[in-house]
Amino acid sequence: MDNIIQEQIAYYEARASEYDEWFYRIGRYDRGEEINQRWFNEVAVVKNALYQNGPVEDILELACGTGIWTQELLNIGKKITAFDASQEVLEINRAKLGATHVEYKLVDLFSWEPDAEYDFVFFSFWLSHVPPTLVDSFLTKVYKSVCVGGQVFIIDSRFDLTSTAKNHILENDGNIYISRKLNDGQEFTIVKIFYQPEELQDKLAQVGFHADVKVTDNYFIYAKGTKF
Ligand SMILES: C[S@@+](CC[C@H](N)C(=O)[O-])C[C@H]1O[C@@H](n2cnc3c(N)ncnc32)[C@H](O)[C@@H]1O
Repeated sequence: MDNIIQEQIAYYEARASEYDEWFYRIGRYDRGEEINQRWFNEVAVVKNALYQNGPVEDILELACGTGIWTQELLNIGKKITAFDASQEVLEINRAKLGATHVEYKLVDLFSWEPDAEYDFVFFSFWLSHVPPTLVDSFLTKVYKSVCVGGQVFIIDSRFDLTSTAKNHILENDGNIYISRKLNDGQEFTIVKIFYQPEELQDKLAQVGFHADVKVTDNYFIYAKGTKF
């Protein structure tokens, strides 16, 4: 288990400078105007759902990445604490946003012990990389880090062949390990799990959240959970 956790960190560290190509549909992720537009339309649906929240004081963003969603969170929170296990990724995020009210921390979420409560805890495209044997303990920690009356907001991928790079093989065969390539051809193995809405709803309810899970037509699953 430790090997795959380290390989995922190494993968995102090595991918840091080319990471955004995925989200903005550039290079190997460019699927042509029509399919790209479908992607961006669905991104807009999810952003709109996110903007229904706040304003809040304190946000915790887990596995914040290069800032694609950190910059959206700036619109709803006064202060953001952003964790990621890759220093390179954190530096890109910091340089891109240049925001004094974002505090960055190098944290491996598998050894993280929550020591504070936040109004809003957010993570995007992270849950799908949490190995199934660790998901319940991870979500329990998330629950601990949300204050009473606060929320968790999760965004992740639905299974769709056009969501990934053209040279990635994506099979809906239940295998949780997939191979990922960088632009230079380097290959890594990571965990990728595509949650069904009912499954995610159950997982969130199990740790104590009152959750509402939705999907967009093709690409995204998103959930909001409240701690009462
Ligand atoms: C798919 S990216 C998502 C990034 C960002 N949330 C987004 O939506 O663009 C996964 C992120 O998880 C980070 N990561 C990988 N393993 C981690 C770990 N064990 N603890 C914390 N972050 C980790 C990677 O560095 C990467 O930034």
